[in-house]
Amino acid sequence: MDTLLVVGGSGLVGGKVCEAGRDAFHVVGTHRGPAPKIPRVRFVEFHKERADEGVALIRQLKPAAVVDTAALHNVDRCEEERDLAWQVNAGSTGALARVAQDVGARYLFVSTDFVFDGRKGGYREEDVPRPVNYYGETKLAGEHAVLAASGDHLVIRPSVVFGWDDTRLNFATWVLSSLKEGKSIDVATDWIGSPTFADSLASGILKLLKVPDGGVYHLAGADALSRHDFAVRLAKAFGLDVGLVRPVKSADLPLKARRPPDSSLSSAKAKRHRVAVVPADKGIAAMKEQRTLDRFVPPARFKS
Ligand SMILES: NC(=O)c1ccc[n+]([C@@H]2O[C@H](COP(=O)([O-])OP(=O)(O)OC[C@H]3O[C@@H](n4cnc5c(N)ncnc54)[C@H](OP(=O)(O)O)[C@@H]3O)[C@@H](O)[C@H]2O)c1
Repeated sequence: MDTLLVVGGSGLVGGKVCEAGRDAFHVVGTHRGPAPKIPRVRFVEFHKERADEGVALIRQLKPAAVVDTAALHNVDRCEEERDLAWQVNAGSTGALARVAQDVGARYLFVSTDFVFDGRKGGYREEDVPRPVNYYGETKLAGEHAVLAASGDHLVIRPSVVFGWDDTRLNFATWVLSSLKEGKSIDVATDWIGSPTFADSLASGILKLLKVPDGGVYHLAGADALSRHDFAVRLAKAFGLDVGLVRPVKSADLPLKARRPPDSSLSSAKAKRHRVAVVPADKGIAAMKEQRTLDRFVPPARFKS
């Protein structure tokens, strides 16, 4: 059986890729914090700050493919800890993609809709990225390094990734757990993205590993929704109090880094390869089927 290395296997997307890949691959995932327990997945510790260790790991494992989901993607933190953000999101990514090419492994880098300036929305792969914050700059540099290492490598761009995750909160689980506790939340009406259900994204990633052409693929849900609209849909689906979702303008939120106003994505290219992520409502319905809100203990951590 071929080996699949999932860098950031302890994260939301990485964990789902580990689970979805177990039947077809011998899966090795990396973690930086506590090692998760996913049956039939071996975990090894790896910090992207120490790229040499990742290079050695890839040389030793000789995987058929590497899926790199690991990032410093707390947008405000990237603005303040620029060297670290560059090293994790760009420098180390390039080093791993180059050694993957050396050992004959295909590298798939999970990038972001935040490479765009958000002035028009509905972005396609041909649109010119113009990041408005340092996070977006580092991820764009990571993309360039991956594609420079090999034309067979892949870059995928999701947007507003959501799903159950017991290790840290994402937008959806933050909304659901806040409303369940009766807390009102301020949610921007003027930030638009394409909510991407993590489980469906993970299956899409595994399918894209098989497409013949390398390059950039947008891989996100089809709906362009403001964070407020998305929060309202979540609240309604889970029978929570919609009145607790307070509409605000993003300018009223206490944030350091600029955000692209509308970074929604068109994923038509991936669809032509028969790869698609489910629409937001289907993702929300799948979350409801997977577990009730009572069985979710909100973790204290937010994303890295
Ligand atoms: N979440 C979104 O809304 C969103 C939207 C667009 C694009 N993306 C992109 O999608 C990817 C996956 O996002 P996610 O939501 O799955 O993130 P996540 O749940 O926060 O997981 C991040 C993963 O990266 C690992 N990591 C963080 N810093 C690291 C470092 N210095 N060295 C090695 N590993 C490190 C974490 O390890 P530990 O947990 O062990 O610390 C974790 O496994 C990211 O590349 C992000 O840029 C996310």
